[in-house]
Amino acid sequence: MNEIIIETENLSRVFTLGGQDIKALDGINLKVTKGEFISITGPSGSGKTTLLNLIGLLEQPSGGTISFEGRDVSKLREGELDNLRLKQMGFIFQTFNLMPTFTALENVTFPMEITRIPEKERLERAKTLLERLGLADRMHHKPKELSAGESQRVAIARALANEPLLLLADEPTGNLDSNTTKEITALLQQLNDEYGIAIILVTHDNQVAQAASRTLRMVDGRLD
Ligand SMILES: Nc1ncnc2c1ncn2[C@@H]1O[C@H](COP(=O)(O)OP(=O)(O)OP(=O)(O)O)[C@@H](O)[C@H]1O
Ligand SMILES: [Mg+2]
Repeated sequence: MNEIIIETENLSRVFTLGGQDIKALDGINLKVTKGEFISITGPSGSGKTTLLNLIGLLEQPSGGTISFEGRDVSKLREGELDNLRLKQMGFIFQTFNLMPTFTALENVTFPMEITRIPEKERLERAKTLLERLGLADRMHHKPKELSAGESQRVAIARALANEPLLLLADEPTGNLDSNTTKEITALLQQLNDEYGIAIILVTHDNQVAQAASRTLRMVDGRLD
């Protein structure tokens, strides 16, 4: 049976700017099953980032519902939302968003400090992940001493540190050259396979989108 981890029903998000309403999301119905790899493409401004932010519990919807493992998350208190986000979601971005003063290893152990994983286990997990991602000899490098591809791999390791159910990736290859794009895309496919982690990947690159098992397209705040 395919276990549904995320379900959105008639999800909407309206931004009001200068007295004008912008319907960034307009009735999104989406079911994500455990271990599924979904890609979302679509024109600029179609609502892709907004959808990821709502599913990632970073922003509140204007209407509709989001359920996580059958629980309506709009009913959760702020602390419970933070907890769910920290333990069950991993995020990666176009700009990597690593902490510039931290080493690769410290960037990966940091989210586990927040979830209070004991130090020994934090270090073990971070090292195992960094080794898995081919960064065994980059652990003590700071972000400015890493290439773009290495930086994104550190960000992926960080996103996986708390063993989330879902990885949300917003244009993760947007700042990478074509070879590094292929490498990171293949890596996401492998991690999806190995760890059974569900992935929602937003991209402008059709070849990257094809790595997913289900490809969706957004237009004007709706899923085609
Ligand atoms: N904080 C905000 N305030 C007002 N309008 C916003 C805000 N965030 C997004 N929007 C608007 O909502 C719409 C959807 O934006 P969103 O960033 O989700 O698009 P996107 O599909 O991710 O685009 P891109 O491919 O360029 O990243 C756009 O019209 C955008 O201008
Ligand atoms: Mg975007």
